[in-house]
Amino acid sequence: ADEPLVLGIETSCDETGVGIVRGTTLLADAVATSVEEHGRFGGVVPEIASRAHLEAMVPTVQRALDEAGIKASDLDGIAVTAGPGLAGALLVGVSAAKAYAYALDKPLYGVNHLASHICVDQLEHGRLPEPTMALLVSGGHSSLLLTSDITSDVRSLGATVDDAAGEAFDKVARVLGLGFPGGPVIDRYATEGDPAAIRFPRGLSGPNDAAYDFSFSGLKTSVARWIEAKRRAGEEVPVRDVAASFQEAVTDVLTRKAVRACKDQGVDHLMIGGGVAANSRLRAMALERCERAGIELRVPRMKLCTDNGAMVAALGAEMVRRGRTPSSFDLSADSSLPV
Ligand code: KG4
Ligand code: ZN
Repeated sequence: ADEPLVLGIETSCDETGVGIVRGTTLLADAVATSVEEHGRFGGVVPEIASRAHLEAMVPTVQRALDEAGIKASDLDGIAVTAGPGLAGALLVGVSAAKAYAYALDKPLYGVNHLASHICVDQLEHGRLPEPTMALLVSGGHSSLLLTSDITSDVRSLGATVDDAAGEAFDKVARVLGLGFPGGPVIDRYATEGDPAAIRFPRGLSGPNDAAYDFSFSGLKTSVARWIEAKRRAGEEVPVRDVAASFQEAVTDVLTRKAVRACKDQGVDHLMIGGGVAANSRLRAMALERCERAGIELRVPRMKLCTDNGAMVAALGAEMVRRGRTPSSFDLSADSSLPV
């Protein structure tokens, strides 16, 4: 009962998320999204996202408070994503968090978006073992991170040098004419396809390539060329086989590097987060490879993998619990905040 009660605000992209936790217990997870407003532009439009955050902020905070059944005056702190993310979008969250913290006279905690994606697993599987390796894969990021203290020591071991993993799913789905977002449809088609039908390249997995970096743009181009050649030859494109073979290439390189990183660093816990963590093949392959390597795999439920406020609250609560110094009211949004 003496675990800290914290409200977290997330506005780094197109989700306005407000979550409330007590320690590692989730009390509320309210999310408003502007994803549909961006659909006809084929990607997130920063100005639209910022305006949508502004409109959604107060009602979403209210919804979270109602859901949690707590009084704002009982909070032990207000946490907010300070970066990385879209500058204007972040600014809305940071300004709102400052206003609430000031009005309620509560400490303010600016947190890193990627660290929050890792910390959210505490709400699902209990306190995070330290050290933990994290593979974060979404439409916006693909990173391997190692943490020995989620509030103060999160190190980036590698990241994508071009497209994020989710972006590759979305682009391949577009060439296959499957619509947006591509991940879920490719996942579905792949279950009926042959993952060994086509051998697509595994970017950056050569002996001289950076051990923990990823590259998906060559894979994407290779899939597009393969489809184009089929069409030019007047042959039918085996959509299910292409989906399965592409998905196999992505999940193979992601899980191989994550497991290798764990072994190299002597870490026996791996967490996977971000929208792509929903991928059924990624989950199965990670589980199989982790079991073989003696690594404990932690993957939070889907709603906690995508952007939300609960993850920010989870990290904020950990900062309160560990007695970290709150941010000052000079806290600014930093679109390229490092971990
Ligand atoms: O974390 P998220 O909701 O948003 C950010 O990008 O921050 O991730 C969205 C991404 C999209 O690219 C989507 O295609 C991908 O996650 N995704 C999937 C699956 N479900 C969503 N990718 C592969 N397999 C899935 N089942
Ligand atoms: Zn995210």
